[in-house]
Amino acid sequence: MLDMNALRDWRFSIDLQGIAWAVFDREGESQNSLGRRPLEELAMIIERAEAGARDKSIRGLVFISGKEKGFIVGADVREFEQLADERQVIENVSRINGYLDRLEQLPITVVCCIHGFCLGGGLELALACHWRIATRDDATRIGFPEVKLGIFPGFNGTARSIRQAGALAAMPMMLTGSFIRAGAARGMGLIDELVPSPSNLRWAARRAVERKRKAKPAGGWRGLTRLWPARGLLASKFRSETAKKVREEHYPSPFRLIDLFETHAGNLDGLKAAETRAFAPLMVGNTSKNLRRVFKLSEMMKAQAPKGQAFKPLRVHVIGAGVMGADIAGWCVACGMEVSLQDVNAEQIAKGIAAQKKLFARRFRTKPLRDTALARLIADPKGASIGRADVVIEAIVERLEVKQNLFKSIEGRLKPGAVLATNTSSIMIEEIAAPLADPGRLIGIHFFNPVAQLPLVEIIRGAQTHEAEVGKGCIFVTAIDKFPLIVKSSPGFLVNRVLAPYMMQAMQRLERGETKEKIDEAARAFGMPMGPIELADTVGLDVCAHVGNILKIAPVGGSKLDEMVAAGKLGKKSGEGFYIWKDGKPEKAEPEKPYDKFELERLGRELVDPLIREAQRVRDERIVESADLVDAGVIFGTGFAPFRGGPLHFEANEEKSNVEVLRRTAAE
Ligand code: NAI
Repeated sequence: MLDMNALRDWRFSIDLQGIAWAVFDREGESQNSLGRRPLEELAMIIERAEAGARDKSIRGLVFISGKEKGFIVGADVREFEQLADERQVIENVSRINGYLDRLEQLPITVVCCIHGFCLGGGLELALACHWRIATRDDATRIGFPEVKLGIFPGFNGTARSIRQAGALAAMPMMLTGSFIRAGAARGMGLIDELVPSPSNLRWAARRAVERKRKAKPAGGWRGLTRLWPARGLLASKFRSETAKKVREEHYPSPFRLIDLFETHAGNLDGLKAAETRAFAPLMVGNTSKNLRRVFKLSEMMKAQAPKGQAFKPLRVHVIGAGVMGADIAGWCVACGMEVSLQDVNAEQIAKGIAAQKKLFARRFRTKPLRDTALARLIADPKGASIGRADVVIEAIVERLEVKQNLFKSIEGRLKPGAVLATNTSSIMIEEIAAPLADPGRLIGIHFFNPVAQLPLVEIIRGAQTHEAEVGKGCIFVTAIDKFPLIVKSSPGFLVNRVLAPYMMQAMQRLERGETKEKIDEAARAFGMPMGPIELADTVGLDVCAHVGNILKIAPVGGSKLDEMVAAGKLGKKSGEGFYIWKDGKPEKAEPEKPYDKFELERLGRELVDPLIREAQRVRDERIVESADLVDAGVIFGTGFAPFRGGPLHFEANEEKSNVEVLRRTAAE
């Protein structure tokens, strides 16, 4: 006899009309994820519904979330590591797929109610139901983020999403891991009914049970996309589109998904079985393990913000409306804050504000939303709003006395408890803070350029900085959807410190006769998002020379870098640096013959070597609290090949695999 009162992650009840309600409310968690226990309890719910359907005491089963935030965020990533090998993965996944098959085969109507996030395994559960109802509001997001973890949907989501939406819609969604809104999902056939808000869900579910609703598989041309020859044509289109974004040797999962579709999508039952076989090696492969590590690191960074503090940043005052200040202001507005922007040059403020319209156009779908965003960004040439701000960030010229004077003049005007921060990239925070009445109040909040694109923000802790201010800095950075990394004040902090020797190494190779195109290609083949020479041009060669000088690693006098800076060739911003830039893109010469793969691999490894060594020094000097946080900072701050799991992790594992090779060779 099943004891449904013993469930801990679900609440199960049967109402007077014979509708069984399964409310998912995972114990002790703020969000629902499908871990081992919720899945075992789901099996009990299915068994109970089967019995109720047999004796006619249950005529419908409805899944709904008990969490305010959303339905299900996916499988529980924390439990993935418990699966040691392919056999265990196959056993585990097959068991769960068995549950979902039984759910789908229930002779009663099974309805899924969705609000908020319905992702990965959550969407796979929804797809095994007969009718899916979602709230139309902006918070509802549907998607398969699995590729971002180096896998693809494994609970038969590939087969069921293709069945319901057709391959042309379902495949790109799985291949990119993008999230869609409820309206778009309804258009695709993944959702069957929309309601205005969560309070309408139960009523709509009851009606769906009464009307015995059952969604039909995609028909017409959508259904044809599963058949040959459309399937072959689509597969090659998906392959070329995916190859434009990622390399197969780095990120195999989307390519395996395309193979799976091409070979098996003609027969959905065959596709279900093949999905599990193709899923298992990805799940235990290095790419997925490392991407899961990156996911955990990102969670770790967010967890740095202290909990339960009263500090709630809503108003920000930014001083300096240049390259950085204007974009910092725009980003804070885009994240819902109210921002005042100050500069000695009023024209610069107007220019800076106007430049944010592009960002708002990307972030906000409707004109009223864009207009309110713009209204939240206020020109404040005299700094009248300083006293109201929760966070004051300085992003003016990189000159010590100018910054000191500014901070001295505003210290007395701050609201009690407000965060006082500098965006300096190279001046020691202790020096800037020295003339303040309370030097412990100043922290560094170091953003990267372009602000909207780079997820990391370094929080700089000076020797005297109060710990509470560092905590508040983390709360602020987390509130604007960035990852905070606490870094001890020292030249170059973390990101510039590890990037500089890597870029200098590239420039030395260039001076020794290697072509810039080959250097950049070697770094990309290693997995960097952009080659170091192109990166130098993008950052600006003057900035590179400046950072190199601060870190005392720039070659003194007569280097190519110095010559170019002297000649005004500053890179992308001046139209010429190492490359000639046209329409925002560098002109690259084709190699005379294709690069040798092994040579490229060796060069790539040599290029990143100084970065890895510097990361080790940062760890040893405890500039950042832990080795994991060094890896996190380097991945999110420089784009260091995420599938390699970070420089320190990569180095340790490369060494291990080298030892393994030596051991095997010796044994042979
Ligand atoms: P920028 O030269 O583009 O802008 C500086 C702005 O500050 C100018 O609009 C100027 O009129 C204004 N300004 C100068 N003195 C002022 C004062 N006393 N009061 C109010 N406004 C004043 O400089 P950028 O590149 O935006 O850099 C600003 C700060 O951000 C610097 O500390 C720099 O080290 C740092 N940073 C720069 C990055 C970059 O890639 N450009 C990246 C990360 C940090």
